[in-house]
Amino acid sequence: MFRRICIILLSLVFGILSCKTGEQNTGSKEITLTLSKKYLNLPVSQSVESDTMTFSVEGKTQLKFVIRLASGKPDYWVFYDISSLSGKDLLISYKGNPNGMKEIYQDDNISGQDSLYNESNRPQLHFTSRRGWNNDPNGLVYLDGEYHLFYQHNPFEREWENMTWGHAVSTDLVHWQELKPALWPDDMGTMFSGSAVIDYDNTSGFGKDGIPPMVAIYTVNNAKGQRQCIAYSLDKGRTFTKYEGNPVIDSWDMWKTTDLRDPDVFWYKPAKHWVMVLYEKDGMSIYNSPDLKKWEYKSHTPGFFECPNFFELPVDGNKNTKKWVMYGASGTYMIGKFNGSTFTPESGKYYYGNGVLYAAQTYNNIPEEDGRRIQIAWGRVEHPGMPFKHEMLIPTVFSLRTTKDGVRLFSEPVKEIETLQQKELAWNGTDQAKASEFMQQFNNAACLRIKTKIKLSHSTSAGLSLYGQNIILYDLNYNQINGLFYTPEDRTSMEISADIFVDKTSVEVFIDGGAFSYALEKKAVTGNTDGYKFFGKEIEIKELKVYPMKSIWPNHTKTDI
Ligand code: FRU
Repeated sequence: MFRRICIILLSLVFGILSCKTGEQNTGSKEITLTLSKKYLNLPVSQSVESDTMTFSVEGKTQLKFVIRLASGKPDYWVFYDISSLSGKDLLISYKGNPNGMKEIYQDDNISGQDSLYNESNRPQLHFTSRRGWNNDPNGLVYLDGEYHLFYQHNPFEREWENMTWGHAVSTDLVHWQELKPALWPDDMGTMFSGSAVIDYDNTSGFGKDGIPPMVAIYTVNNAKGQRQCIAYSLDKGRTFTKYEGNPVIDSWDMWKTTDLRDPDVFWYKPAKHWVMVLYEKDGMSIYNSPDLKKWEYKSHTPGFFECPNFFELPVDGNKNTKKWVMYGASGTYMIGKFNGSTFTPESGKYYYGNGVLYAAQTYNNIPEEDGRRIQIAWGRVEHPGMPFKHEMLIPTVFSLRTTKDGVRLFSEPVKEIETLQQKELAWNGTDQAKASEFMQQFNNAACLRIKTKIKLSHSTSAGLSLYGQNIILYDLNYNQINGLFYTPEDRTSMEISADIFVDKTSVEVFIDGGAFSYALEKKAVTGNTDGYKFFGKEIEIKELKVYPMKSIWPNHTKTDI
């Protein structure tokens, strides 16, 4: 008996030891690297379980996140910018299968740098992150010539996790430069959606040496719930310091729900205070603050879901008749009045957009002389085989216009997008079959803008398709465009116009000057040989202009656009 117990004990000890040495043979659970390069490259495999990885410097945890560290051949590589840690020792520990630890390496390039922005399914008209997942645009704010685009981001996998604020800037809303992520997960939770403002009067006290702080207002998410926090930057959004008094709003007691998120903050000039619109439980709450730190609950408008946006616009360009627009993530909106603390809806609920469009935000701090209400939405589009997922849709300008149905929100692409147009190829006939023939030359072009107007002769369906996928489907029997009710301003005209953007993996369509818009995932061609085709019973093509488009990426080398 004693012998048997000894053997069991010995084999247990040996088992533990061999397991440890086994790991050391294939990869250690901990490695230390003395950092000297710009990036840490990490192999990822979608087919392994994810587990926790920790980066520590000088005994302090730098970052904790989950990753599917490839134990064999990686599907793709992700990276972490280590440029600010040069000369330091980075301790990397991983709770999962450690086989891939020995593959992690530092370099001045990210793995795949050579093909960056030239990858086969990389959108060329839409912003995408170099690696990883993106969802909602966050913190859209203009400052000193730069449009900031923060966004929900998982830098370590192309699926949703590790919510971080990614960051990109543009000087023209067309070309984007991706910077280091701005807000990383911390002990309070992951970084969910929010907004950013410039605190010109330094109400928050975060300003220094006359520099007004850029303040990000975001939601922290953890297993227990969601709370609102702030962080500030004095270097144009390049680095943020989180406020030590966070959270600034914890409204659990009031709502008893974990759905408390996505603060949309702006300066309310007439009463000189901050306004926050916050998604809470069943709709949008309004809070006021003198300093972005102390917030007071004021009112609530039920009937919306996540990602609020709230802004004032002139009706028909008339600065003396302004209205407020409130919408949630789907883009369904209400128009009404606002007195600084309460929104009073005066309209029904309408939609301006549809399809893969979600969680749109508008820019804060656009200079008065520009005065546009510029919007960017998340495009839920897959890019098959790519190390990144989703994209930002083309920035648009909102306007309120009086229509036969009342005042409605219009959304049109920003004029800056015209700078990508290489040339105009116009077709001047009206014949449907000949128009389709003219379009054949563009069948395989990756990036196009197409402006067209069609006139129906029968109240049935008509439109434009690409390899069998409907880009415009106008059904004059049910009065629908791509499945949603729509009638043009002139109901008896039988006409609609469309401004279409075709990219590698998506298509965006703006109907009748932005009265209705939608974005679609571009389907892979499966056997259909039609290419572009105008369809419908005896339709007339009243306008057809095609613009081959340049890529938004500066180092794009391919010419097949
Ligand atoms: C909308 C959303 C937000 C949330 C974020 C998390 O897409 O669910 O409500 O803050 O995504 O990534």
